[in-house]
Amino acid sequence: MLDEIRNFPNACKEAFEEKIKLPASYRNVNKIIIAGMGGSSIVGDIISDIFDELKFPIIVSRSYNLPHFADEKTLLICISYSGNTKETLEQIKNGIRKKCRIVGISSNGKLMEIFNRRKLPFFLIKKSNTIPRVAIGYLLFSTIKILHSLGFIKVDKINIANNPEKDAKDVTKKINGTFPIIYSVYPSVAKRFKTQLNENSKIQARWEALPEALHNDIEAFGSLNEKFSLIFIRDKLNERKEIKKSIEFLKRIANKAKVVEIFSKGKSKLERILYLIWFVDFVSYFLAIENGMNPQETLNIKKFKEFVYGKPNL
Ligand code: PA5
Repeated sequence: MLDEIRNFPNACKEAFEEKIKLPASYRNVNKIIIAGMGGSSIVGDIISDIFDELKFPIIVSRSYNLPHFADEKTLLICISYSGNTKETLEQIKNGIRKKCRIVGISSNGKLMEIFNRRKLPFFLIKKSNTIPRVAIGYLLFSTIKILHSLGFIKVDKINIANNPEKDAKDVTKKINGTFPIIYSVYPSVAKRFKTQLNENSKIQARWEALPEALHNDIEAFGSLNEKFSLIFIRDKLNERKEIKKSIEFLKRIANKAKVVEIFSKGKSKLERILYLIWFVDFVSYFLAIENGMNPQETLNIKKFKEFVYGKPNL
């Protein structure tokens, strides 16, 4: 897994270089829904955080049903690395019924079968034999490529010049043994960190968006102690002065909780958010290894799928 995490910048570039053909009618939409679960669905959150130039709403749908407003004016991007996730497959059926402009992304599975059989636009993730959350570079940049090809966003070059591996090791040491509470103005990064800590490191964690946390979460700060770490994921170039002051305030009232700050690096917003995603992925991996956990295996997720859907859907 470590090599694959290290390969993140190349994966992003490789996926963006792939070709995709989409019908011209796919430009004629007024909203985007990204349907998926877990490590596949986070793509939608990351895109929402990066591309604030998008002219219409982008909704991430993580359930069996699409939002009721999905219609023929909806670009529906269905992502499942395995191609066999039941919730995502149900949303595809829903999207076909509702006549959404539908695109599929997977490395295999029923999703691929459905899209091929119906001759619907499909983006194959060529990287097989890995796991969804490790394929993030491929999943993310296939989706970015789709939006770029349709003219909804503009990506000039993919530059991830700074490598966070060393700093990520330091952060791992600081937070090991604590319950991390993650704060950020980028919900996608905070959520990704939390879910990676769950799936790779097998620890509990939670995340809160800023400034929303200032209006609720802080009332529970009295119960913080040395067992908690407060992790502030920051972007100096994209932080209002009120956010900087709010973080100062949070640090003052942090009680005995450990305070850790992670600062983004890079020129563009794209580069800075990708740096942060890469950073937290490294931390979740190192934390797993430090504590003797297998980051690759997600036994409970596997058992849940088996229990609820039976073996064929694994
Ligand atoms: O990271 C993981 O392994 C999970 O969160 C999966 O992404 C989730 O179970 C959905 O599977 P898939 O991404 O194959 O649709």
